Amino acid sequence: MFFSNLLLSALALASAALASPIELAERQTPQKLRIMPLGDSITEITCWRATVWDQLASANLASSVQYVGSQNSNPQNCKPATANWDQHHEGHSGWLAVDIANNYLEGWLKKTPADIVMFMLGTNDVTRGKSTQDVINAYTKMVGIMRASNPKVKIIVDLIIPLSFSNNAIQAINAQIPSWAAKMNTTESPIVIADCYTGFKTSDLRDGVHPNANGDKIIAERVGPLLLDFVRQGLAGK
Ligand SMILES: *[C@@H]1O[C@H](CO)[C@@H](O)[C@H](O)[C@H]1NC(C)=O
Repeated sequence: MFFSNLLLSALALASAALASPIELAERQTPQKLRIMPLGDSITEITCWRATVWDQLASANLASSVQYVGSQNSNPQNCKPATANWDQHHEGHSGWLAVDIANNYLEGWLKKTPADIVMFMLGTNDVTRGKSTQDVINAYTKMVGIMRASNPKVKIIVDLIIPLSFSNNAIQAINAQIPSWAAKMNTTESPIVIADCYTGFKTSDLRDGVHPNANGDKIIAERVGPLLLDFVRQGLAGK
């Protein structure tokens, strides 16, 4: 009896020793799905990221995910229901889609790879006179960079919210997004569109450019359900 117990504990010790360090690490901290909120000031200095985190928490998904990016900030002092929401993001005030595609995204994804990228970009390109085609080309380049970093990346592209001036140029980009996204879509790396434009009024902007509280609510309502779908698929190994 004594010897067989001893034998069993010896076997248990031996099997524990057989687990590789990676297996042990996975047992202790299961890999969280990595979500990158990517954009300009409409991603950085706004509260919809926080509201979407509340949606993740309400769906009991918050402990299975993390926001990733080189930034970790809450410039609007957003106070969602979930006090310990993840404030990482890749929102850069004033930045153009063109520059992010050409010079930055590859390095960001190298530092913080992502399973899901959600992005809204193009507003600053419009204000600096870039064409619709420049912006769509930047989107194509960004998707290529995302897929080179992670062939299974899931992508949410937003229709851009209205701009109180130059709104025709915003509409022109938004008009191209559905056919662009359908063309770029693949089974391995799906792209879905969050319509943050329809029903978003200029009165939902606080300064003609950025969403006010109601605008944040609209963006979160349009992006959140698509993100939750992607997270559930990702957790199911799809
Ligand atoms: C991409 O394909 C998925 C199905 O695989 C579909 O649900 C989604 O709507 C498609 N996206 C676009 C933009 O057509």
